[in-house]
Amino acid sequence: MAHPDSTLITHIGELVTNDDGGAFAARNDAALVIAEGRVAWTGPASQAPAADVAVDAAGRAVLPGFVDSHAHLVFAGERSAEFAARMAGRPYQAGGILTTVAATRAATDDALRANLARLAAEMTRQGTTTLECKSGYGLTVPDEARALALAAEVTPEVTYLGAHVVPPEFSADPAGYVDLVCGPMLAACAPHARWIDVFCETGAFGADAATAILAAGRAAGLDARIHANQLGPGPGVQVAAEAGAASADHCTYVTAADVDALVSARVVATLLPGAEFGTRHPYPDARRLVDAGATVALATDCNPGSSFTSSMPFCIALAVRDMGMTTQEAVWSATAGGARALRRPDVGHLGVGARADLIMLDAPSHVYLAYRPGVPQIAAVWQAGHLAARPAQPPSTDLHLE
Ligand code: NIG
Ligand code: FE
Repeated sequence: MAHPDSTLITHIGELVTNDDGGAFAARNDAALVIAEGRVAWTGPASQAPAADVAVDAAGRAVLPGFVDSHAHLVFAGERSAEFAARMAGRPYQAGGILTTVAATRAATDDALRANLARLAAEMTRQGTTTLECKSGYGLTVPDEARALALAAEVTPEVTYLGAHVVPPEFSADPAGYVDLVCGPMLAACAPHARWIDVFCETGAFGADAATAILAAGRAAGLDARIHANQLGPGPGVQVAAEAGAASADHCTYVTAADVDALVSARVVATLLPGAEFGTRHPYPDARRLVDAGATVALATDCNPGSSFTSSMPFCIALAVRDMGMTTQEAVWSATAGGARALRRPDVGHLGVGARADLIMLDAPSHVYLAYRPGVPQIAAVWQAGHLAARPAQPPSTDLHLE
């Protein structure tokens, strides 16, 4: 019997399900049924049940929607001149963040909301169906709280990053800023957020401050994640392990002890190759992390400074080309890996019962995401079972999407 309001997607050339637990999983000549916003059935196309609506994938690939577990989308202004200077040889410095802080503080709520909505829509068109969004360009109590309230309009995965850098008005009193972040700012921000984050890096926050900030956040009901070991070796990964953080993000400069800590404390290593692309730092060694048994996620780090890309396919291509990942590993990390980083068992895979967040490529397999870098290949995006975007119009065969 047909499911009420169900959708059957059939003749799927490659259906990536990731439904065997910890690894990439796919089947060919497949079909999938969506009912009530969830995956209701997957199996061979020849055995597909009937449904209210049928979509012919005509041999195209279907994957879980991307889970972008690290983005900074609440900001105003841009820093293209800084990017151009870096490409001309200037180094990246964490202090560039303050340029965006000044622009963000001066912006109206509506200007921030419009920029956020534009970037979130840009992500959806590129296949992202779950996104995380941080504050961190306000750095006052009201500016951080409004950033989080705005982020909560587009995603439940909202992260308080009052500890991005010390703002200029506290440059003579960084300890006073940590007290603010752990005190009144946290009190104003916690109701809007699920996560707390800190930029643990030379020029931002050290190990003791980061530990105190994550502990204060946990006491206020926020789970921990961290910017760690991005610009050089440092204590961030160890802080993450000791804090029970869900994820340590960047992990560009990690020691053998850091890799051991990620594995034994089960902290997801979230790699953000857009940041290395945009800063000319070396790419993180994903191969080493995967071989050691770490769980690896890929995310964009979309922000106007270090990584102004919203494209998960771009990150997959970089991970495959320059970080030692197989195409299967990179796609797993961009979907199921991101879901682990956000502790979201309902997304990142297409097992029965998962949220029906899925993308159809205008290509026959996941390999094309890296094989054809820079080419728009997302033909359709479903979020919770609803068609959310249909960015590419495949010329050859009509997809018959309703
Ligand atoms: O993840 N590392 C800190 N924060 C951002 C950079 C933000 C910026 O440069 O504006 C990052 O790379
Ligand atoms: Fe970041």
